[in-house]
Amino acid sequence: MNNFLNLNEITTNNLEAILEDACKVKKATLGGSAVKEHYSSCLDGTLTGLLFEKLSTRTRLSFEAAVLRLGGQVLNLRKDEIHMGKGETLEDTSAMFSLFLDALVLRLYEEEKLYEFSRYSKIPIINGLTNESHPCQVLTDIFTFQELRGCIAGKKVVWLGVANNVFQSFLHAAVALSFNIIFSGPSKFQPNKKMCEFLQGRDPNILTVEQNPIVAVKKADLIVTDKWVSMHDDELGKSDLNKLENFRVTRQLLDFAKQEVLFMHCLPADKGREVSQDIFEDNRCVALQEARNRMHLQKSILRWCLGLF
Ligand code: CP
Ligand code: NVA
Repeated sequence: MNNFLNLNEITTNNLEAILEDACKVKKATLGGSAVKEHYSSCLDGTLTGLLFEKLSTRTRLSFEAAVLRLGGQVLNLRKDEIHMGKGETLEDTSAMFSLFLDALVLRLYEEEKLYEFSRYSKIPIINGLTNESHPCQVLTDIFTFQELRGCIAGKKVVWLGVANNVFQSFLHAAVALSFNIIFSGPSKFQPNKKMCEFLQGRDPNILTVEQNPIVAVKKADLIVTDKWVSMHDDELGKSDLNKLENFRVTRQLLDFAKQEVLFMHCLPADKGREVSQDIFEDNRCVALQEARNRMHLQKSILRWCLGLF
């Protein structure tokens, strides 16, 4: 059994194996035949729990769809209906979950709690986002890029705006899969201490900072942004919002990049803030493909966690 907690803890070989499995799974989903049947029953007899402290549309839906389409069953657990953290420790809660489930997807605020939960778990734990990371999303983004543009190794990913949880998972992936990240955003929102410490002693080209968004996107194979205010963040003041304006992704900004550049956003988006209203109509934007691919990746993450390949 394997946990899927963060991309910096999973070997490159395993990440590549998950990406390769997702290609097969997606092909089988779209095709007919015995291969499709093989995948549609591989989670037969298993029960996957979903426990989300925060809102979710894509992660919850794509995991539910993935499990059901692989022949397993899902159980949605509501935090306000269980004792976790109120009268029962995480340790004891985790032990209980292990008695009844085969895998558990957790979306928690605090990353430490995810690790504490996994320490006492006898079933695979999958990180469905914390304040610090979003590995399922980023692996899907890489899958989507590779599907459209080939191997991501050596490519340049330009991240605009705020260095947040999704950004941190991109950093982990960049190290494991040998691509480069250029961060472009106001100094207040640059990569934090933990992110910089993670990069210490590694190839300095993994992360560079470019203040000018136009200069940054000129180098990009892939441009990525996310909401300036994440679910765990406080709303920004006017002066911060003003500073971030320059880093909004617009069609005009994409025009400074190479013709074949792709733009990704994990969604949900704050149209008019980090992206212009019309960005999702632009054919360089592949946010919908990203969202659609979430299910294929979740299938392979589950299959890997359960030791099915
Ligand atoms: N991108 C993503 O994880 O979306 P949800 O918050 O809707 O799950
Ligand atoms: N950074 C965002 C991602 C949502 C999928 C958040 O944490 O709210």
